[in-house]
Amino acid sequence: MVAEVLAALAVRPGGVYADGTLGGGNHAAAILERSQPDGRLYGCDLDPEAMSRAQVRLEPFAGRFVLREGSYVTLPEWVPAGSCDGVLLDLGVSSHELDTAARGFSLRHDGPLDMRFSPHSSPTAAALVNETPVAELARIFRELGEEPAALRLARAIDQERRRTRIETTGHLVAVTERVLPPRGRGVHPATRLFQALRMAVNREVETIREGLLAAWKLLRENGRLVCIAFHGGEARLVKEFGHRLSRNYEVVGPVDRPEFRRPQTPQLRWVHRHAVRPSREEVRVNRRSRSSLLYAFERIP
Ligand SMILES: C[S@@+](CC[C@H](N)C(=O)[O-])C[C@H]1O[C@@H](n2cnc3c(N)ncnc32)[C@H](O)[C@@H]1O
Repeated sequence: MVAEVLAALAVRPGGVYADGTLGGGNHAAAILERSQPDGRLYGCDLDPEAMSRAQVRLEPFAGRFVLREGSYVTLPEWVPAGSCDGVLLDLGVSSHELDTAARGFSLRHDGPLDMRFSPHSSPTAAALVNETPVAELARIFRELGEEPAALRLARAIDQERRRTRIETTGHLVAVTERVLPPRGRGVHPATRLFQALRMAVNREVETIREGLLAAWKLLRENGRLVCIAFHGGEARLVKEFGHRLSRNYEVVGPVDRPEFRRPQTPQLRWVHRHAVRPSREEVRVNRRSRSSLLYAFERIP
């Protein structure tokens, strides 16, 4: 969604931008290209391999960017507050990570059950699958994967791991297929379970919530935050953030009770009324992009 990202960020020559999810650096390169001759970019990714690829991809723009390995949550530790015209968070896993069997993200390539964005973090998906109590596993599958058969799957995994540890993506797919046999050419039944595990391994709910606030701190007045979500769970967190900062009241407590609301000055304007989706042409060339949902928010004075 390169054209859509550039438009949503309103990239201009001389602007300052941050890309919190560099991946292979495609969006970052497009931002540096469009902001020529003197636009600047801060970039980070948790994945050291992604960082190396981005470094190479961005070489033609040397001198105009600073990259650091790390989470977008920590951007405010090294990017000055209020310094950016735009921040991009392209959430989730990259095609490169998905296609690398050794990373364990894909149910289509057999590999170790890893699923960590950063090799320095823990736990791995194998540790979660083999060591998490059944009720907690079921909660992960239900809440993070919206999996209707969450408890049945957790019990099947428990039965299998009592026999032998589940260490590979192929083994986990086989266990899933015993409970939910694949039908036809539609979405594979293990898809939701894999998504849930990846989110749990990388603490994605907490990270996205903290990361949106971190990104917001970097923006100057009228600066834009652009987020690309890849599934309903990510989109919900992004929209929740947008609603919270655009309201003229603050919700006090876990439930919104009108009598307890506190007035607040809205900080944010939604740039588009609805999520922007990839063009038909993009989906034709890159089928994985079909689920992408882009949201853009402007910081109001
Ligand atoms: C969808 S890809 C981004 C692709 C990128 N926009 C491009 O143009 O190539 C998402 C990237 O975010 C990284 N990532 C996931 N969680 C992160 C976090 N908390 N902080 C920084 N990077 C993260 C992943 O390692 C992956 O490289």
